[in-house]
Amino acid sequence: MPEIELAQRIRRLKKEKGAVILAHNYQPPPIQDIADHLGDSLDLSRLASTLPEEIIIFCGVHFMAETAAILAPDKRVILPEPSAGCPMADMITAGDLRAMQLRHPGAVTIMYVNSTAEVKALTDICCTSANVVKVIESVPADREIIFGPDRYLGAWAAGLTKRELHLWNGYCPTHQRIVPDEIRKLRREHPGAVVMVHPEVNPLIAAEADILLGTGGMIRFAGSSDAGTFIVGTELGMVYRLSKLYPGKRFIPASESAICPNMKKITLEKVARSLETLEPVIRVPGPVAEASRSAILRMTQIG
Ligand code: 13P
Ligand code: SF4
Repeated sequence: MPEIELAQRIRRLKKEKGAVILAHNYQPPPIQDIADHLGDSLDLSRLASTLPEEIIIFCGVHFMAETAAILAPDKRVILPEPSAGCPMADMITAGDLRAMQLRHPGAVTIMYVNSTAEVKALTDICCTSANVVKVIESVPADREIIFGPDRYLGAWAAGLTKRELHLWNGYCPTHQRIVPDEIRKLRREHPGAVVMVHPEVNPLIAAEADILLGTGGMIRFAGSSDAGTFIVGTELGMVYRLSKLYPGKRFIPASESAICPNMKKITLEKVARSLETLEPVIRVPGPVAEASRSAILRMTQIG
């Protein structure tokens, strides 16, 4: 079915079923175009529990839909492609975290929301790239901190807060596709451009950047900056998002290959099918949901 007809069908089904479509800033352009709300992982977690609709079609990856299901246990949270995972989230298991906690008794555990519900259930406070600094600063200075799974986000935040963290060794494969030479070449080609990168990049890329920001931060920064050209060091979907928001400005990807294959598993066909069948639903077992909810809520209360 042509894209335009599929989009119409989705709009009709959405009304019929009383559903709302949430989409992460990395979603493919056709999904961004049909979404009711677009946002970073923090915005989307918050929205899930505050929106009036009982049915949420979550266009993103598994940990994001899972977080929405934990925060809105009475709603039906549907992930149109259940195999859309996050390799970084799978780099630490609950068993790994428990072993780390035994090695550092008394430490406060902070986990990036890019983690499974089982890992969050063993966590004291979650964080996203938008609030990681505030979350670390909320921990008394005399307490040790375990941080995971992203070692690069953790190391960057450790530098900003001047705290030593016990870091897990995870990383995002998509952000590792951005390389310093490409950024230097783009800077030469576009003098005056601002280089903004996501804190999931490695320190070699961070050293080339003017500013490190999560996806929501990039949107706010690009809107308020006087600059007209930006080199965008994150997943490619963000370039479409920024270009649509600010058509008068120019957004250049730091790497054309920084594509998250899991984010791109969501298609219009799958969204339409999910609206018809109201499946597949993301369910988190009771005790895990309870335990992980407090870590997520502590984060949302901090900032
Ligand atoms: P944001 O929280 O900045 O939206 O990022 C989520 C993510 O998965 C980055 O790879
Ligand atoms: Fe996970 Fe990286 Fe994809 Fe974000 S971009 S969802 S961290 S694999």
